[in-house]
Amino acid sequence: MQTPHVVTDDAPALQTDEATASRIHFDIFTLFPQMFSGPFDESIIQRARANGLISWALHNIRDYTTDRHHVCDDTPYGGGGGMIMKPQPIFRAIETVLSRPAGWVLPAEAAYVSLPPWEAEAPPSLPPAVPVILLSPQGRLLNQQIVLELSQYRRLALICGRYEGVDERVASRLATDELSIGDYVLSGGELAAMVLVDALTRLVPGALGHCLAAHQDSHSPGLGGLLEGPHYTRPLTFRQETAPEILLSGHHAQVHQWRREQALARTLVRRPDLLESAALSATDLAFLRRLGWEPKA
Ligand code: ADE
Repeated sequence: MQTPHVVTDDAPALQTDEATASRIHFDIFTLFPQMFSGPFDESIIQRARANGLISWALHNIRDYTTDRHHVCDDTPYGGGGGMIMKPQPIFRAIETVLSRPAGWVLPAEAAYVSLPPWEAEAPPSLPPAVPVILLSPQGRLLNQQIVLELSQYRRLALICGRYEGVDERVASRLATDELSIGDYVLSGGELAAMVLVDALTRLVPGALGHCLAAHQDSHSPGLGGLLEGPHYTRPLTFRQETAPEILLSGHHAQVHQWRREQALARTLVRRPDLLESAALSATDLAFLRRLGWEPKA
């Protein structure tokens, strides 16, 4: 893995109007750019883009091949099943794009045939403030803390692996971080990249309707790292279950206390591991003790 880049204020010059205004620009490197069409065309991500809060460019790794058949994969050295993504098209795509302003995309007519010059053995220096994240089942497990850290960057590059994996030199010499979205194997990193873009977009100020919403989410600092408790809306009674009376009482302090206790109780039942690192007050601890929970020494 490359040395992680540091956050600096000297964001690289931005090219398009859209990229100039956006808080985060995503450069996504994939063999299947069309996979992003549906999820990125709806709801919060679409609205955040329309409002100039985020921007993205999809880069087809295959466009950066120069052989006649545009081959992006090869058999593994040492044998074994499956195919491995070749390093050159990925390095070429990332180095070409990241050495240009955010918002730059390869003109369609330049794919394969008139790519910008690139030297396989002479890497250009890439902008320091752009993490290059390889999505893979072997990466660090993504959590809200990592999302929060990544939300400090103005530009991120996401590499979506396919086949049995990518040549190890992509992980060791190009990526600055490797992230997994869970202990299961997907057919490629595209869905994981979408998950990351979604989680990051929610943290961009103005992306959600309610300004407190992201802060009060499960796992978020506003809740001290707990799960959220239950929510209810109309009708008051549904399938013989009535919403808790306290929520209709109008006593804000009591409602607040009830919500806190529900969050604590739910976290205890569903994710007791989170309690060990949660921000707990003396009142929280007293409540949890009544439920039989004690912090580990
Ligand atoms: N690619 C394949 N499986 C993955 C996972 N669990 N997380 C991120 N990228 C992946």
